[in-house]
Amino acid sequence: MSVVALVPAAGRGVRLGAGRPKALVPVNGESLLLRAVRGLLASGPVQHVVVAAPPDQVDLVASELVELAAAHVVPGGAERTDSVRLALDAVPEVAPDARVVLVHDAARAFTPASVIRDVVGAVESGAPAVIPVLPVADTIKEVDDAGDVVSTVDRSRLRAVQTPQGFAIDMLRQAYAEAGDIATDDAGLVERIGGKVHTVDGHPDALKITTAFDLAVAESVLTRS
Ligand code: CTP
Ligand code: MG
Repeated sequence: MSVVALVPAAGRGVRLGAGRPKALVPVNGESLLLRAVRGLLASGPVQHVVVAAPPDQVDLVASELVELAAAHVVPGGAERTDSVRLALDAVPEVAPDARVVLVHDAARAFTPASVIRDVVGAVESGAPAVIPVLPVADTIKEVDDAGDVVSTVDRSRLRAVQTPQGFAIDMLRQAYAEAGDIATDDAGLVERIGGKVHTVDGHPDALKITTAFDLAVAESVLTRS
């Protein structure tokens, strides 16, 4: 029985605007992808990683990870959901005994090991789907098409969702087989088929690097030590 992590890394990084796939963008000399995959493998419970790369840059991504024998690279797809599905399809070959699967964005390259371990631990304790979450700091309002406020949402029950998201592998397979491509995260597909999703504490360092500002934060804060 092993734990496998799927890392969707096939996005183009349009909002970051670095002129190359975001996963390959270096932060103080090391790419987001290398940092993310190494972080998964160093956290303890993860034995295998399947990375979904931009289809035209599989070889480049594989060379980026050449030092990590437990990392395998497959071509990703047009949308994140397609990339995760393609990585999931590769699991029988890469890790036939996998019972727990994580899905982790390459862009969350600074996720602390404790978050990864907590997600795996909760799945191994019996939760079929587990997500790391943070409280929402801003006041949230619902607005209509005209931009007028409809209501102020009760923030105390809202959570911002991070990765890695963890699943009993049969649950994620069933969700991808039955739910279609409706949700914006993997746990959302589990919700669509009526599965229960449990939460654990996320961490601010697990932010998704989306914009140049996020990258600057990572360079100045997250690589300090
Ligand atoms: N991703 C993927 N396949 C896609 C689209 C996204 O594997 N077709 C991955 C990205 O590489 C990233 C994660 O999903 O690790 C989260 O996506 P996002 O932060 O939106 O990254 P990009 O799609 O690369 O960025 P942008 O939307 O700004 O182009
Ligand atoms: Mg995107």
